[in-house]
Amino acid sequence: MTETITTAAIAAHRLDVGYPVRGGTLRVLEGLDLDVAPGEFLTIVGPSGCGKSTLLRVLADLVPPLAGSVTVLGEPPAVVRARREVAFVFQDATLLPWRTVRENVALPLAVGPRGARDAAHAGEIDALLTMVGLDGLADRYPSQLSGGQRQRVAIARALLCKPRVLLMDEPFGALDEITRDRLNDELLALWRRTGTTILFVTHAILEAVYLGERVLVLAANPGRVRELVDLRAAKERGTCPRESPALVEAMARVRAALETC
Ligand SMILES: Nc1ncnc2c1ncn2[C@@H]1O[C@H](COP(=O)(O)OP(=O)(O)OP(=O)(O)O)[C@@H](O)[C@H]1O
Ligand SMILES: [Mg+2]
Repeated sequence: MTETITTAAIAAHRLDVGYPVRGGTLRVLEGLDLDVAPGEFLTIVGPSGCGKSTLLRVLADLVPPLAGSVTVLGEPPAVVRARREVAFVFQDATLLPWRTVRENVALPLAVGPRGARDAAHAGEIDALLTMVGLDGLADRYPSQLSGGQRQRVAIARALLCKPRVLLMDEPFGALDEITRDRLNDELLALWRRTGTTILFVTHAILEAVYLGERVLVLAANPGRVRELVDLRAAKERGTCPRESPALVEAMARVRAALETC
């Protein structure tokens, strides 16, 4: 009999994270245990300040843990970051206003060796812009785009290095509901096509249950796992419509868990 060993995409055990503040350390996450399977879509909700962004920052190697262990694709976050296998999409699109759409998408290349790189990647960038629905806008500047279009540029930029793990921190939080719904569907289609592991923070409960195979509910003070709502069985045959009984029930469970956070 052969044993199959699957390395978790994300594994955190007894993870403590905090920030240095005057007079000591502000403890944000405490004793957090989390395993995310390769290719999983995990959404994260929790009260403001509970440590959702902090968790993503640890995984992206932007904040070091105080204690416990954390691995991404079986390696310390710094290793995976250096290999550019993990990408981050922030809440505000963080585009450089003096660069065009094309130049913003090419930004991750700017830290690599210069030379013919932009030309070499031109086809790739065009394909990404098509994928996120920005055909014909490559030469515009961020100030000439709508909020939804700017977020698409940020997503295209994150996808340029073909990350195996995509960390998204309230990427659609500032958008109107119709644009958000459309981008949700585009993101799901992209996830199905690429098999990327996605961790997606949101304050919208419907968005959390619609996108996530599991929904992680974090409690605050200190940040810790309150509940993991599992939607995998309901979604085995594809996306559930937003009004489907499985999602309505999951929303009630997430809401009830949030009330105790
Ligand atoms: N650089 C920092 N230095 C000190 N404290 C910080 C720092 N960054 C965040 N914090 C604090 O850590 C806690 C968790 O912050 P974090 O940004 O992870 O929360 P969050 O769950 O993402 O909240 P929100 O839903 O409002 O985005 C908060 O109390 C915040 O004030
Ligand atoms: Mg946050």
